[in-house]
Amino acid sequence: MRNRLAGLIRPETGRCLMLAVDHGYFQGPTTGLERPGEAIELLAEYADSLMLTRGVLRNVVDPQRRVPIVLRVSGGTSILRDDLSNEDLTVSMEDALRLNASCLAISIFVGSASERTSLTNLAKLCDRGQKYGVPILAVTAVGREMARDARYLSLACRIAAELGAQVVKTYYCEEFEKVVNSCPVPVVIAGGKKIEERAAIELAYRAISAGAVGVDMGRNIFQSKWPVSMIRTVRSIVHEGKSDAEAWELFQELKG
Ligand code: 5RP
Repeated sequence: MRNRLAGLIRPETGRCLMLAVDHGYFQGPTTGLERPGEAIELLAEYADSLMLTRGVLRNVVDPQRRVPIVLRVSGGTSILRDDLSNEDLTVSMEDALRLNASCLAISIFVGSASERTSLTNLAKLCDRGQKYGVPILAVTAVGREMARDARYLSLACRIAAELGAQVVKTYYCEEFEKVVNSCPVPVVIAGGKKIEERAAIELAYRAISAGAVGVDMGRNIFQSKWPVSMIRTVRSIVHEGKSDAEAWELFQELKG
């Protein structure tokens, strides 16, 4: 378990940069990931780990690429339906181990109609993870009707940790320190919808300053006009301690 976690959160800095390219599991051919292999080829060398599905891993990732895998193992819904929260486990532990996953990711939907199922699925997955030494990343998914504030996100993150998740992924919000400080396991942030590069850089900086161990960012990297510059800039915040102003300067240079 600790060895797998070290592939995710780099022991040298205690931080992590995950590249999230799992969006197709419910969104289909997401903008920027129409050909996921191309995005992965371009960006993987700058990421500490890749978060993706087994279909993408098997079909488009070169097995000789030595990058830790955070395998998405929940799903079963699509953007065509209203209830995105109605997920189930979609990958067996045997297949995840065969694919050499370093971590398994599952969404939880606290406050939704499927709250109980998603939380008990998390607990079951944590039991299996304990058995085989595989860490579990709980993704605190936020439905349209759910607030993205510190109160709600603290609740969701804390429940995920209490049920056994080794790492929690959530969204950045005002008073993010409260979310991190009340969660006994490392917290990473998702980037969320594509925003201006400067705003995404600030978001990453604020999250790290507030105590996040890293970012699991997708759209704000692969949907940028300058994806390599973006991932390298975010990396400088996560691993080199650059401020948002320094990182913005770096982005301008790299983009140039
Ligand atoms: C989808 C996910 C994504 O991996 C997550 O949202 C991170 O990507 P982005 O930075 O694009 O939000 O978990 O449910």
